[in-house]
Amino acid sequence: MSGSIGPLLAADEQFNHKIVETINQGEIHIIEPELKDFVADTVKKGFLKAYKTVQPADVYLVVVPTPFKEKNEPDISFVQAATKAILPLLKVGDTYIIESTSPVGTTEKMRDLIFQERPELKGQLYIAYCPERVLPGNVMYELVHNDRVIGGIDEKSTDKAVAFYSKYVEGQLHKTNARTAEMCKLVENSSRDVQIAFANELSLICDKAGINVWELISLANKHPRVNILQPGCGVGGHCIAVDPYFIVSDYPMETKIIGTARNVNNYKSFWCAEKVQNEKLKFELERGRKPKIAIMGLAFKPNIDDLRESPAKYIAQRVLQNSNNEEYYIVEPNIKDHKVFKLTDYKFAYDNADIVVFLVAHNEFKELNPSNEKVILDFCGVSN
Ligand SMILES: NC(=O)c1ccc[n+]([C@@H]2O[C@H](COP(=O)([O-])OP(=O)(O)OC[C@H]3O[C@@H](n4cnc5c(N)ncnc54)[C@H](O)[C@@H]3O)[C@@H](O)[C@H]2O)c1
Repeated sequence: MSGSIGPLLAADEQFNHKIVETINQGEIHIIEPELKDFVADTVKKGFLKAYKTVQPADVYLVVVPTPFKEKNEPDISFVQAATKAILPLLKVGDTYIIESTSPVGTTEKMRDLIFQERPELKGQLYIAYCPERVLPGNVMYELVHNDRVIGGIDEKSTDKAVAFYSKYVEGQLHKTNARTAEMCKLVENSSRDVQIAFANELSLICDKAGINVWELISLANKHPRVNILQPGCGVGGHCIAVDPYFIVSDYPMETKIIGTARNVNNYKSFWCAEKVQNEKLKFELERGRKPKIAIMGLAFKPNIDDLRESPAKYIAQRVLQNSNNEEYYIVEPNIKDHKVFKLTDYKFAYDNADIVVFLVAHNEFKELNPSNEKVILDFCGVSN
């Protein structure tokens, strides 16, 4: 394969103007280990240039957001918009690959859209789907070393896409068709969601049964064929909390377990917020004064600054909505400022609170000295 990869394309005008400028200066706009030096070097050598509009290329990668709409239906309008922007530039022999997490059938829909507008290219393009699999924070390693699942709309598209990825991927490249590759990504994240739901369900049962769920899981996992995950305050992020809905939305009758797992994980967040409310009222009744409450963590998982779909953020919002003149300390050590929450230093919050609610097991929280004088609500196993 010769020629260039599709240039970086950005949509949201103001924000992306800044991103495009940043990248073209050899800088990056996100926190990602090792990426900075790599981008600096690549830009310097003239191999990478960012644009605000699509530029002619031989290979086009569509890696745009695929959020969900109200009623948890997938929104592929960004994929459609990006495809429409690429359409006029397509020429015989080009490769078009979607990497965005997408509902089953999206690649075929985009194929139809392309050939409807450009019928002369029928059979002359390579169209495939290859889901993104990287873990933020480890992107530079995983982009190269992870296995990839690659599915074309026909065999020659699959082969062409495999040839493209083989240029930089050292993991194995597994060939399939587009629909299977799309479903594969959704199933990977649904599998995690279902397994976490099991752990979260156990945490609810154990709370009623007076059993320490962390000890229970650790003991059960001593069995050679049992591997239960850890419970938490819900499930967040833009993948695991979202992708199962892409299956549920298209296959509502068949997704009893996947749909229920989503509900269990959502319910866990609601339950945590209710627990805080109950503990607050109990404190007031017993001690005759309003408690000071520390909410520890807003991110969707430990040691990151990402709040997307975060159950901790949801719980903090819900607790604040139920507030009745109590004093609250909201803590997120990975973020300096937040436009909604007034953030407090984690040590100050912990030292001064009567009720401490651990929502995210950030490393900083693990170093705090245990206290018998405080009410500790540990929803993420930070003290276990
Ligand atoms: N980030 C991850 O770790 C990760 C991992 C696996 C899968 N994914 C999937 O990859 C996709 C992208 O995720 P992300 O985290 O990079 O999203 P993001 O929101 O951070 O970035 C998407 C980019 O797409 C641009 N964009 C939006 N509409 C566009 C259009 N019409 N034309 C051109 N560009 C457009 C945005 O401006 C933005 O720069 C999603 O489907 C996500 O589920 C992401």
